[in-house]
Amino acid sequence: YTAELDASDIEKGTYPHFMLKEIDEQPFVMRNIINQYQNENGDLKLDDDIRAAMKEADRVYIIACGTSYHAGLVGKQLIENIANIPVEAHIASEFVYNMPLLSEKPLFIFISQSGETADSRAVLVEVKRLGHKALTITNVPGSTLSREANYTLNLYAGPEIAVASTKAYTAQIAVLAILAVDSARAKGIELDFNPLQELAIVANAMEVLCDQKEEMEKIAREFLAVTRNAFFIGRAADFYVCLEAALKLKEISYIQAEGFAGGELKHGTIALIEDGTPVIALATQEHVNLSIRGNVKEVAARGAYTCVISMDGLQEEGDRVVLPKIHPYLTPLVSVLPMQLISYYAALHRDCDVDKPRNLAKSVTVE
Ligand code: G6P
Repeated sequence: YTAELDASDIEKGTYPHFMLKEIDEQPFVMRNIINQYQNENGDLKLDDDIRAAMKEADRVYIIACGTSYHAGLVGKQLIENIANIPVEAHIASEFVYNMPLLSEKPLFIFISQSGETADSRAVLVEVKRLGHKALTITNVPGSTLSREANYTLNLYAGPEIAVASTKAYTAQIAVLAILAVDSARAKGIELDFNPLQELAIVANAMEVLCDQKEEMEKIAREFLAVTRNAFFIGRAADFYVCLEAALKLKEISYIQAEGFAGGELKHGTIALIEDGTPVIALATQEHVNLSIRGNVKEVAARGAYTCVISMDGLQEEGDRVVLPKIHPYLTPLVSVLPMQLISYYAALHRDCDVDKPRNLAKSVTVE
């Protein structure tokens, strides 16, 4: 008997799956992005044309699918808070048939790991037909969405092989933060936020979390090994990460998972809580910490089995994971990491094909 070895096994190195390898690569990707987007003086470096397009825009429309859409939601918050430009984030497949009224000087940002997603491309074709400008943020520079847009920002994340996107998501958010700061400066907004410095802190925090795999594996075993459903709750930026956490878990473990905004629970979804329902809560946002803690108590009182992931400075006794403290704008970059690992181990415990989940493709080139 000779073991079959294909090229992909060699690229995985000592890793059992691409997904785990790609999760672990995230600190390196952050440092790579810092290097690619800084000049010799260590300051931000971005294309003049992109800066001009952002300065000119009265509204930004972010278009994306899947995980890239979830990065877009975080990007909306970053651009609005940092650069003071109104932003809408849209799912490509909805936008194309149901276009909202556009502003006078819109700029479109397409976020796509592969740069080949047909739903996003359909919007780009329409945007060009209407004569609007488009910027593509992608991991594949020569891709269709990159070639057909006016401008491109690269993710520099290296090839992402696992169907479930991990390092591309964090790379997208990092690049969006850089774009937001560059646009703010172009508009003369004074900032005390240096994204390159903060991303270096993020990279270190990611490394700390990558070293906590045993705890993530334990959480996955305890909460997700046998359940039929699971809920993620959070507020503000944490809510966006909960949507991504739920998607990750659905994709690779086939558990019915949903991300809910803490405040919406009482308007319907709390009816789903039964004895033993796993609820994973994110608590990294100071201004909503009390409210999300209240939500955790509410679901626990109805029988939920709760796991809180908080951030240093906001932790309470009993929290299962405490993330290293990082800049409040960038919390999704570190809070998603335990979620990715927990999903990964949940899929392993359920004997799922982590890198190639059923019914899914890495790049969807049909509408
Ligand atoms: C597919 C993948 C997802 C991905 C989505 C968007 O559905 O399975 O992981 O998020 O496409 O892909 P893109 O390449 O445009 O980011």
